[in-house]
Amino acid sequence: MSLLRRLSSVLVTGGAGFIGTNFIKYLFRRQDFFGRVINIDALTYAGNLFNLKDIDHDFGGSRYFFEKADICDRAAVEGIFDKYEIDTVVHFAAESHVDRSILGPEAFVRTNIFGTFTLLDIARGRWDGQDGVLFHHVSTDEVYGSLDLDGRFSEDSAYRPRSPYSASKAASDHLAMAYYHTYHLPVTLSNCTNNYGPYQFPEKLIPLMIMNMKEGKSLPIYGDGKNVRDWLFVDDHSSAIWAILTAGVTGEKYNIGGENEWENRKIVTALCEITAAALGRPSDELVRLMTFVKDRPGHDRRYAVDCQKIQNELGWRRQVDIHQGLIRTVSWYLNNAEWIAHIRSGEYREWIEQNYARR
Ligand code: NAD
Ligand code: DAU
Repeated sequence: MSLLRRLSSVLVTGGAGFIGTNFIKYLFRRQDFFGRVINIDALTYAGNLFNLKDIDHDFGGSRYFFEKADICDRAAVEGIFDKYEIDTVVHFAAESHVDRSILGPEAFVRTNIFGTFTLLDIARGRWDGQDGVLFHHVSTDEVYGSLDLDGRFSEDSAYRPRSPYSASKAASDHLAMAYYHTYHLPVTLSNCTNNYGPYQFPEKLIPLMIMNMKEGKSLPIYGDGKNVRDWLFVDDHSSAIWAILTAGVTGEKYNIGGENEWENRKIVTALCEITAAALGRPSDELVRLMTFVKDRPGHDRRYAVDCQKIQNELGWRRQVDIHQGLIRTVSWYLNNAEWIAHIRSGEYREWIEQNYARR
């Protein structure tokens, strides 16, 4: 049996965002995780510390620490590396929304490329010659570009990013691998398909649709609605990252996917049915809200990944079936009015100031 890596002092970047939040909660749910987590996040519009109130209550100051910092700020990140003797980095922090990257690419270039470079470079300096350290870079299937009806991307597929977001993520992937090959920094990389689940910022398809359904607003479907995405429940992404952190091979990249391909119009129809049942309303009423609108510029037609490598080499399997995952997600959004009110107002920032500024 191969020896699993031990994670002692884990720097999670972007831990106040959607996947980072779910990953931190996942770590603390594991009975075999004994380390501590240092969450660094700049708290952009997408970062919400309210997500981690429970973790801060249970583990704050002992096994969970939050540091408000921009990953582009070298001095701040170096200070955090030294203060907590970081041995593992799980790098989620990014500008993540494709539509925003079309409207304003600069923040994507800055955070996703320069921010990733800054982290890699600090890790290289701090970890020189040290054993047992690992930098895991979290990336996306969008770096591979767009597929037609057939085929799936493998880890060897060429990079053909087509949006400012995916181009910035592709650049960050190249930098991560360059640091492995050139400086022998222990790096692993994962390219995952579309995540869904609790705490996702309601600008992304699934939470936006659920919230609009609840409020009787129109459900904007871009183009003909036949674009295909592969959906993965966020906890399954966390378990895949755990598998890579503990048993992944440095210098390797792993595709992660749900093997759950859906046309956008079909997943929205399924969401109408699930949400209608939860609200006790006829599903036709919600289906009628679907509105086909102007397409996203450069809209990638289809993504799908072959994830046999992580399945065969690390034994990872998706656990959550899409129907169950959607029911859980709808239920979470319908039952977390307080979170939605926070995310839509400046209140959560006030909460952060009250709870953290004076510590
Ligand atoms: P998100 O937008 O919900 O969260 C991003 C977090 O990063 C936020 O908390 C934000 O405050 C923080 N952040 C942004 N800029 C920062 C900076 N300069 N310094 C420090 N913190 C900063 O994103 P997400 O959906 O949770 O995605 C997390 C990661 O996973 C990203 O790298 C994304 O590319 C990747 N990914 C996402 C998906 C998906 O479906 N959401 C799929 C595959 C890969
Ligand atoms: O594939 C992984 C990627 O998935 C991640 O790297 C990104 O960070 C994440 O945002 C996500 O990107 P997408 O562009 O696929 O996600 P989004 O939720 O924005 O859109 C999903 C699909 O739904 C896409 O084909 C566009 C469409 N869409 C989206 C919105 C917001 C609509 O039709 N209407 C909408 O209002």
